[in-house]
Parts: sequence; C-alpha cells; structure tokens
Amino acid sequence: MRDHVVLFINGEKHEVRGAAAFSMLADFLRYERRLTGTKVVCAEGDCGACTVLRGHPMLGRNPESGTLRFDPINACIATVAQLDGAHILTIEAVSDGDTLHEVQRAVVDHHGSQCGFCTPGIVMALLGHTEHHLGDAPDRKALQNHLTGNLCRCTGYDPILDACANLRPSETTSVVARYDRPEVVAAQQAVARVPFHVIDGDRHYLAPTTVAGVLDARAAHPRARLVAGNTDLGVLMNKALLSTFGHAPAQPFTEFISLQHVAELGGVTVLPGVALHVGARATFAEVELVCDTHLPELASLLRVFASPQIKNIATLAGNIANGSPIGDSLPALLALDASLHIAGPGAADRVVPLAAFFKGYKQFDLRPGELIRTIVIPLPRPGALFRADKVCQRKDLDIAFVSGAWRLDLGADGRISDARVAYGGVGPTAMRLPKAEAALVGLKPTDPALASVAALIEAEVTPRSDVRGTEAGRRKLSGNLFRRFASGLRASGLKAPAASAGAEVTP
Ligand SMILES: Cc1cc2nc3c(=O)[nH]c(=O)nc-3n(C[C@H](O)[C@H](O)[C@H](O)COP(=O)(O)OP(=O)(O)OC[C@H]3O[C@@H](n4cnc5c(N)ncnc54)[C@H](O)[C@@H]3O)c2cc1C
Ligand code: FES
Ligand code: FES
Repeated sequence: MRDHVVLFINGEKHEVRGAAAFSMLADFLRYERRLTGTKVVCAEGDCGACTVLRGHPMLGRNPESGTLRFDPINACIATVAQLDGAHILTIEAVSDGDTLHEVQRAVVDHHGSQCGFCTPGIVMALLGHTEHHLGDAPDRKALQNHLTGNLCRCTGYDPILDACANLRPSETTSVVARYDRPEVVAAQQAVARVPFHVIDGDRHYLAPTTVAGVLDARAAHPRARLVAGNTDLGVLMNKALLSTFGHAPAQPFTEFISLQHVAELGGVTVLPGVALHVGARATFAEVELVCDTHLPELASLLRVFASPQIKNIATLAGNIANGSPIGDSLPALLALDASLHIAGPGAADRVVPLAAFFKGYKQFDLRPGELIRTIVIPLPRPGALFRADKVCQRKDLDIAFVSGAWRLDLGADGRISDARVAYGGVGPTAMRLPKAEAALVGLKPTDPALASVAALIEAEVTPRSDVRGTEAGRRKLSGNLFRRFASGLRASGLKAPAASAGAEVTP
C-alpha cells in the first residue's frame, strides 16, 4: 500500500503526499510546480482554459502513431489523487525549445490569440485532435467540434478556426512522441498495480485495485464518496469552497474511494446484436466509440454530450449515480431497458433494472457499501425504431431543458408491439411514461394518429418551473420532441432519423 500519489508531468516523475494530493490538478500545476501556462477561469469544466493532455496505459494506445493515447481533460475539476499514475502534458511541453509547434504557429499567424488567457487551453485541445490525425489535411469542422469545450471572449473564434484550417500537415508533428518513453510507461503500469491510501488530517483518499478492495474500503470508510471521473464531484468540491450569496460554505467532502485502478471495471464489452456491457470505469469517449458501430442512435446523442475534455474522463456509471433528472444518458438507457449490476457485501451482484433504480430526487436503490459494477444495455431488436433527443439553449456543452428517448418494437404486421417512452427534466427523476407507451401499442409508426400520443405525453410528465424553464414550456417541449420523432418516422418511411439535439424544437 502506497501512502502517496505518483504523477508524471511533462516527462518528470513526482511523488505527491498529504494535502497536495487532494488539490485540483490545475492548482497543483500552478502553485506547486509553477507551471502557470495552465489557466483557471471557471473552475467547473466549462471554459477549457485549464485543458491538459492525460495519458495512461489503461487508456490504450493511439492506433495512428503507436504512442500512448493522450487526450484532453479539464485540470480544474480533476484531483491529483484521481490521476495517480497518469502522465500529464501541459502547454509548457508543447514547443520544442524555442521552436513553436505547428498548432502554436498557426494560432500566432492567424491572430487566434488576443488577451491570451484561453490560448494554452485552445492549443492543448487542438493537440488532442491533431495527435490522432498526424499528417492529415486539416478538417476545420472536426477541429471546431474538438473545441466545443473551449471558450474565448476576445477573438470571436474566426481567427482560431482560420488557424485550424491552415495547419500544415507535414509540420503537424507529435508532441506525445517526445514524452512517450518506455521507462515512463513501465513506471506508470507499476504505479497502477499498487493501491494507495493518502491521509491529510481527517481526509482520506483511497485507490484500491480490485472490486473486493473497493468494498473493503467502503466498509472501513462508510462516509466516503466513490470517485469515477470526478466531473460532477469536482464541480461540487470547487463550489463548496465558495461562500456565495452570504451562505456558509457547504460541508466539504473528506473521504474518497477512487475506481481508477480497478481494471475489472474498465471497458465496454460488445455481445453483438444482444447487448453492451459498460464497465463502471468506462468513459463516455469509450462508450461513444463503441456506439458508433453498435448503437449509432446513442452515439448521435453523445456527440452533443458535454465536451471532449469531459467525455474523456466522465463515466456512464457516474451519470447514473449522480442521479440528475436531466442526465443526458438516462432517457435513452430507460428506453433501451438497461439494467445495473451492483456489487456489494453479498456474494453475488444484484441486478436492478434502471427503471427501478431511481426512487426519488437523487435517491437510488443503492445500499450502503454498494457500487455499480456494470451497466447492461440491450441493443434494439432488428427493425426496432429507437431515437434519443435533447433540447437546450445551445448545441454544445449545455444542460438540457428536456430530453426524451423512444423505442418502438414492431410486430410481423408492421404495428408497434411494444413501446418505451422515457423523458428527463420533467420530474424528480428521469422517468418512463407508461400511459403513452400503452397508447402506442397497436399503431403503425407511420400512422398520423401517432402524433396524438404527444398530448398524452404532455399530460403525463410532471415538470416544475425553475431557472431554466417553466412547467408549461417543459410540457410543450416534451410533446414537441415526440412530434418531431413521429414526423421524422413518417418522412423517412420508417427509419428513425439521426438525433440532432439543439434548440430547434420550440414550445
Ligand atoms: C462542464 C460539464 C459539462 C457536462 N455536460 C453534461 C452533459 O452534457 N450531459 C450530462 O448528462 N451530464 C453532463 N455533465 C455532468 C457529468 O459530466 C456527468 O454526470 C458524468 O457522467 C459524471 O460522471 P463522472 O465519472 O465524472 O462521475 P463522478 O463525478 O466521479 O461521480 C458522480 C457520482 O456518482 C457516484 N459514482 C461514480 N461511480 C459510481 C459507481 N460505480 N457506483 C456508484 N456510485 C458511483 C459518485 O460517488 C458521485 O456521487 C457535465 C459536467 C460538466 C462539469
Ligand atoms: S477553468 Fe474553466 S474548464 Fe477549467
Ligand atoms: S484570446 Fe482572450 S479569451 Fe481568448
């Protein structure tokens, strides 16, 4: 058992003990290592100023370059401890001596930097893309998509996109190749095999390497929070330090159990045509990649989930266990009849259908000491129609007002034999709508009568007004999302159209 965290930063090994292990990576880089190129603006994962690249053998290799895979993450909401064993590349690693990297050269030449505060994050985010496309002609649209997690207040983005469009393929060399040394990778692998327990006063951070170890740690530290990607927890941690609007700061978290080194919780297993088994440590980026081939409708939804930085570290299990009624994945998982395999003190896992997991606002069927081990997502039957959609104020990196997902199984007569209708943002939990489901059975998917179910949906949802929208607006949006789904089916002659989240559906 180690009493410290090990981090590799720009090729150098660091052993981190005590309070520093609990700090956010951005603060550690800036205040402990004096690597001040990494900026902090929002401290909640929204602006991308803190973007760094993270590489870890557990995340695999870049199929193009053969080097370790390095992907952008937000350093402001990731703790040093949760990154134990990772290799972090910061903006200071990018130029080769005095020679700017091609991405930096293009940003300078096209005036993509004005005040410069966002610039290191933008360069790191762009590198996250170019490292996987070395020598390719620049794809302005792909690079633009890769920047959805980066905000710039000065440039209006055009100069940055011009820089993207003018990257010279022959000059776009790998930064990672300079740092991906076999001895570092071997050291990273060795670190990941040894659990750690870091203590700082009454604070504990544990990282077991097996599920059994996690269960033991949970028994010994019953108040500890499980940590997967920390994208929800990290924002809460940062907020808890603030005393806003005259209120006292919230009670800070003091005990954590990280799942990062539990190899058996990693990855997505595909049972072709049957189901996806998503491990609790699998990130949204991993899930999206698998869904591209096996569940493209879900992949379409994940295109507009958060940002690349968030998807590279956030997990599906965390999205479920966070229990937000507007968690993007939840209506889709409900519509697909997903279930959870839950590990606990008992000998065998409990299997809980997701529809039975949510008991109320942030209340779950998760007993003390338990954790989600696997999410089982049955794949739609051949011919079934499935779609998931969300409505938000802007296309990327936004919390939805309302989200919905629908699955229609068809009988031999072409009529709907079974239906799932699930919504988020319209009640204390994401929910299925049994009355609407029952009304769909027996209809033909192209039948104009299908649209009449929208009125049932509007009556069955139970939204409330809040800062994001009114109760009436959410009801109307719920119905309109279904109308869009139904009219898409009619227009496409039975093929579920690709999801296109955005603000086009108006109340
Ligand atoms: C900038 C930003 C953008 C975002 N955009 C979106 C978005 O578009 N859509 C959306 O739905 N969400 C979004 N989120 C929210 C968040 O990213 C997701 O909810 C994410 O899936 C959380 O996963 P995580 O691994 O980071 O969870 P963590 O923060 O590590 O954990 C979340 C909760 O789950 C618990 N937990 C984690 N793993 C397990 C387990 N195996 N068993 C039991 N409990 C567990 C933790 O204890 C904690 O209570 C966004 C967040 C940020 C900061
Ligand atoms: S500081 Fe804004 S995303 Fe990290
Ligand atoms: S150059 Fe000022 S924020 Fe982007």
